[in-house]
Amino acid sequence: MGTKILPFCSSLLLILCLASHPSAQSFAQNEEQEQQEIKRSDFPEHFLFGTATSSYQIEGAFLEDGRGTSNWDAFSHIPGKIKNNDTGDVADDHYHRFLEDIELMHSMGMNAYRFSISWTRILPRGRFGKINRRGISFYNKVIDRLLLRGIEPFVTIHHHDLPDELDKRYGSWMSSQMQEDFVYFARICFEEFGDRVKHWITINEPNLVVLMAYIKGVYPPAHCSPPFGNCSVGNSDIEPLIVMHNMLLAHAKAVRLYRTHFQGKQGGSIGLVAFGHMYEPFTDNEFDRQAVDRALIFNFAWVYDPIVYGDYPKEMQAILGSQLPRFSKAEKKILKGSLDYIYVNHYTTLFTKDCLHSICSDDANRPIKGFLDTTGYRDGVSIGDPTGVDRFFVVPRGLEKIINYIKERYPDKPIFVTENGYSAPSTDSNNVEDMVNDTKRVNYHKKYLASLAKAMRNGADVRGYFAWSLMDNFEWADGYGTRFGLLYVDRQTLERRPKLSAQWFASFLGGHPQVLTKSSSIVNTNAFDSLMDG
Ligand SMILES: *[C@@H]1O[C@H](CO)[C@@H](O)[C@H](O)[C@H]1NC(C)=O
Ligand SMILES: *[C@@H]1O[C@H](CO)[C@@H](O)[C@H](O)[C@H]1NC(C)=O
Ligand SMILES: *[C@@H]1O[C@H](CO)[C@@H](O)[C@H](O)[C@H]1NC(C)=O
Repeated sequence: MGTKILPFCSSLLLILCLASHPSAQSFAQNEEQEQQEIKRSDFPEHFLFGTATSSYQIEGAFLEDGRGTSNWDAFSHIPGKIKNNDTGDVADDHYHRFLEDIELMHSMGMNAYRFSISWTRILPRGRFGKINRRGISFYNKVIDRLLLRGIEPFVTIHHHDLPDELDKRYGSWMSSQMQEDFVYFARICFEEFGDRVKHWITINEPNLVVLMAYIKGVYPPAHCSPPFGNCSVGNSDIEPLIVMHNMLLAHAKAVRLYRTHFQGKQGGSIGLVAFGHMYEPFTDNEFDRQAVDRALIFNFAWVYDPIVYGDYPKEMQAILGSQLPRFSKAEKKILKGSLDYIYVNHYTTLFTKDCLHSICSDDANRPIKGFLDTTGYRDGVSIGDPTGVDRFFVVPRGLEKIINYIKERYPDKPIFVTENGYSAPSTDSNNVEDMVNDTKRVNYHKKYLASLAKAMRNGADVRGYFAWSLMDNFEWADGYGTRFGLLYVDRQTLERRPKLSAQWFASFLGGHPQVLTKSSSIVNTNAFDSLMDG
């Protein structure tokens, strides 16, 4: 039956397309251009390609070798907080399998790796307890092995997991005391690892932390208020502003410490990671276009304006008034210029609707959102293919646009894309063979890389790209069901199995795709040692 109607349908579509599209030919040309295969040579020789992970999402070994309890240990152990009641107790057991994981990165041809340090492995009780040498020893082994394989370590000092004790004592990021704790931790990292680590990231995505932990209340410490969520504590209007303020000052003070005591002799660089969605107007209306600017300011410039220019964006000051905390003169001075690179995590683009001149729902009108509403759908059609994360859609052009935005707002700062990646919708097959044959993920990376290359051809100074993630891992409140990895991880055996995307990166980067066609039970590190050294 299908064969009878198909020819009619496709010719009808063709006629409709030719008749209604004003420039059918240029449309076809663009499509063709987009489909041209991206090549390694589209990027500079010294461009860095890596994968990214974070400690709580991959390490496991949550009680081993003196590690203390983190906020995420405490939170994930409360039934009902994480999908399927998953926890990071075991995660990918990277703590015991890091050698194998580094060999797999090497086989993919990666020359950089972004990971984070578990605060409670180094300082089980923050500054209120002792330094745990066994934690330091673990990261020394990771760093040394990476360097041996020609992989540049990019180290995030704080990526969501913090000592539970600091939450219990003074409410962690709600208190300015947290600035002192963070700098105390950062100093130990610089002292212990800074001879070999040349790329420091102070904090990962403060803008995500405020959204998930203090507006929606779905990450610890689960603070929120209606209409955003039904938490037992919190104020979704005020607390996010305070938390961001403390995170930015903690960052600035750690950078001041690094610059004063370490950067000179160690010769590294330092910055902070923010997520940067791109936005497009919901309609062609001028007000919706202004809402795009506000969305970028209230989500991205909120983080970057203070550390580049020394203060919050004036649009935020105008709308939020006295709710927005103020920086003192001395604070502005240490904030301004407290970064060597712009680090951006980019996944998606959303439509933006104005709520300043028109009435939106109550939620959308909340000041913290800057009088705008964002959505992935227009007239029932999504802005790009849906993914495994709510409100993440595949919109490759968005990467070029956010890079251009950064280039214009913060000129002279080189950029790294510190995360970009894909998880399949939960409606897709969860048969292992299908998940390993991840053609959609390959296409995602190909198209986003092509978009990045285009921004660079037009003058953007981008130095590196990190795929999120090396392997399937504990995807925070979504648990293990949402898989972003280039390596498939079997939840029973924890065996790593390279997906098609891992092989694609290996071919693209000139790694060893033939090694990656095998399951990692064969790829043991001893075999690699003899392969590499012998
Ligand atoms: C999570 O744990 C709670 C309490 O034990 C239980 O009621 C709930 O059904 C569990 N959820 C899942 C998805 O297993
Ligand atoms: C909060 O609880 C109310 C009443 O149970 C419910 O109608 C509402 O949807 C909840 N809000 C959120 C954001 O979960
Ligand atoms: C992988 O999926 C593609 C479609 O996305 C299909 O054409 C191909 O045959 C599959 N390969 C394997 C090995 O299953």
